[in-house]
Amino acid sequence: MTATIIDGKAVARAIHEEVRREAEELRARGTTPGLAVVLVGADPASVSYVTAKQKACEEDRIESFGHTLPADTSQEALLSLLAELRSDERVDGILVQLPLPRHLDEGTVLAAVPIEKDVDGFHAENLGKLGLREADARFAPCTPAGVIELLKRTDVQIEGANAVVLGRSKIVGLPAAMLLLRENATVTICHSRTRNLAEEIRRADILVAAIGRPHFVTADMVKDGAVVIDVGVNRVEDASKKRGFRLVGDCDFDAIREKARAITPVPGGVGPMTIAMLMKNTVRAARMRAELA
Ligand code: GUN
Repeated sequence: MTATIIDGKAVARAIHEEVRREAEELRARGTTPGLAVVLVGADPASVSYVTAKQKACEEDRIESFGHTLPADTSQEALLSLLAELRSDERVDGILVQLPLPRHLDEGTVLAAVPIEKDVDGFHAENLGKLGLREADARFAPCTPAGVIELLKRTDVQIEGANAVVLGRSKIVGLPAAMLLLRENATVTICHSRTRNLAEEIRRADILVAAIGRPHFVTADMVKDGAVVIDVGVNRVEDASKKRGFRLVGDCDFDAIREKARAITPVPGGVGPMTIAMLMKNTVRAARMRAELA
């Protein structure tokens, strides 16, 4: 079997178009969707993510409010900015780019984002509601929500499938497992202490790999006909590239491609979905403000 390659860029493009249409509609009714993007410090990867998020806002007709603070910003100063954004009516969504500098307490900072503006879905209450499968869970974290959207838009049946999630991070693995459960998959979460890892992975009809280790999943671990969603983005040295590295996923793409039913490439798979889902969450927040949702 040669796998279908799931084109995350094309799916993300379709979502951006839907968002843009909704944003135009909201503007016509007098509600301009707005996203505050808070960056503390100048970590190069974070700077490039934040720039991409702001560019997407512009393209999707969402107003963005950028707040870049120095790396030595105190917790008090950051919380005071969040308090301002909490009551700013132009701001529908608040995003605090992670990771934060080490002297800041991530839990306290994320708890200061009100749940109705928590478009990243990292507030404990939003994650809790997701886990409890409550109907009013407001926002799901963007990367795992993008994984589900990719599966749905490529007609993969989630209900009843054996889904294996590799990794249990707060940003990807754990919420991905909760979302798959909400879609009625039978879910296994694997992590660094899992015994017989290859055996667990081989049971997967749907495999979501999010452990951040280049080409960790090899073809012999993958069941024939599985759907493989590779969330990993890893730099590996490559002297043939101008920048000295290339990006690879957690899965051995070339070998698994000969075995799986469908697979996401890296780059161009899950990556573009994260920002698309952030935009989707932001217009949803704006619709709620306008009492249309
Ligand atoms: N850092 C890595 N991924 C994310 C994300 O989805 N949102 C935020 N805010 N920070 C991140």
